[in-house]
Amino acid sequence: MSFDLVLFGGTGDLAWRKLMPALFQAFRHGSLPASGRIIGVARDDLSDEQYRALIRARFDEVDLSKRPAPGEFERFAEMLHFLRMDLSKPGDYQRLAATLRERNADTVVMYLATAPSLFTVACEQLAAAGLNTANTRIVLEKPLGHDLASNRAINETVRSVLSEKQIFRIDHYLGKPSVQNLFALRFGNSLFEPLWRRETIANIQITIAEDLGVEKRGAFYDSTGALRDMVQNHALQLLCALAMEPPINAHADAIRDEKLKVLRSLRAWTPEALAQHAIRGQYTAGKVGGEAVPAYRDEPGVNPESHTETFVALRAEIANWRWAGVPFFIRTGKRLANRDAHIVVNFRPAPHAIFRSPLGAANRLVIHLQPKDGLELHLLAQGQENRASKSAQQTLAPVHLDLDFDKRFGSERVGAYERLLLDVIDGRLNLFVRSDEQEEAWRWVEPIIDYWRNDSAGPRPYAAGTWGPSAASAMIARDGYCWSEEC
Ligand code: BG6
Repeated sequence: MSFDLVLFGGTGDLAWRKLMPALFQAFRHGSLPASGRIIGVARDDLSDEQYRALIRARFDEVDLSKRPAPGEFERFAEMLHFLRMDLSKPGDYQRLAATLRERNADTVVMYLATAPSLFTVACEQLAAAGLNTANTRIVLEKPLGHDLASNRAINETVRSVLSEKQIFRIDHYLGKPSVQNLFALRFGNSLFEPLWRRETIANIQITIAEDLGVEKRGAFYDSTGALRDMVQNHALQLLCALAMEPPINAHADAIRDEKLKVLRSLRAWTPEALAQHAIRGQYTAGKVGGEAVPAYRDEPGVNPESHTETFVALRAEIANWRWAGVPFFIRTGKRLANRDAHIVVNFRPAPHAIFRSPLGAANRLVIHLQPKDGLELHLLAQGQENRASKSAQQTLAPVHLDLDFDKRFGSERVGAYERLLLDVIDGRLNLFVRSDEQEEAWRWVEPIIDYWRNDSAGPRPYAAGTWGPSAASAMIARDGYCWSEEC
């Protein structure tokens, strides 16, 4: 099968940091069809050779499982081409059409790794140049809009030129092996299903902690914030994977229908819930990994009086029979103590205590997403007996079963972008987000955006290198719980 992958934003950050390395990994794993062409598109004036050299130079800065062997990049680079384009100029799309006609590839993928403000014009112009044929697929990077209205506007334009099955909306979290494992855990085993409900589960916590700051994206981030950057998409997709009903099969729409139901069941925000359960924070100067780091407001590109949140903690509820009354706590932030994404499923304690139990981490399933990929099942067990104890009651000790997927399957597993790019080329939509899912997610976060816009208090400060503002701990404590690092 031949393909042309047109990478709009071909010299941008995402292209060289994530997409090119992922394509290179797919190439070295032998999974990228050799008959493919990758055409980087940008406004720069570069020859194919210059483009290849630029990507090669950047490879020294990116995370690859191992460095390219002599000649390996050069073999991959034979697939790389460059086309200078100004996305606002109709004539440039005609030149793209001519380039694509040279090959008439079986599949043409248009990857819009550009500013979202260009999505609409790019789609309209692609159609005007006759580039919306049945073998075309379009990939849209997040953020897809900045609120419900802008998201709808983009979706409407894209759907007016291509059918839904040609549209691949990326949420790279869905491509992570650890996130796919969530589906495997729930729907490949029958063990957890009877327990996966309000009668046995007390609460679920989703943490996506980053130790990095805003890197070179200060200006973008300052107009976006953690709620739009991480919660509207990645965190809510994790919530869907945890809370959805078993789909009738593994087809894209069967999975997406079930995720959509979860999003529709999210309890609507009330003014009281917003005041108590929507916490935002912003990092001040501190130390991360022993190194001093500046405050968010001192990062390049950031407004020195910015109210943009770099941390969010929320309490969500899913109003359906399976989950009514079970709090789902979500938190994410930049410049936190560690890079650590994990989910904690806290089961209810035994209904009647016949043993003396220590307080702490028992009755708990921890699903590690990154950097560790694994499962821990925390239980109480009969530990060492204390011979001196005169008490008739046994005291139990916390123990845990520990499954490390990197050790079991090797850490050379297919990475998120590699998986997703191969899926686009093969036309598999399972790991991509449908427009209605995205709109529901925006509908749920929008009241939080509005509430914060009108709240002059601004985000709560937290020192870089900590776990966020204390208000996040107070929020969860009101339900009688604590975050995993606190108990
Ligand atoms: C992106 C966000 O979607 O996800 C970034 O825009 C964030 O701000 C990144 O750093 C986190 O992804 P990962 O794979 O490093 O957890």
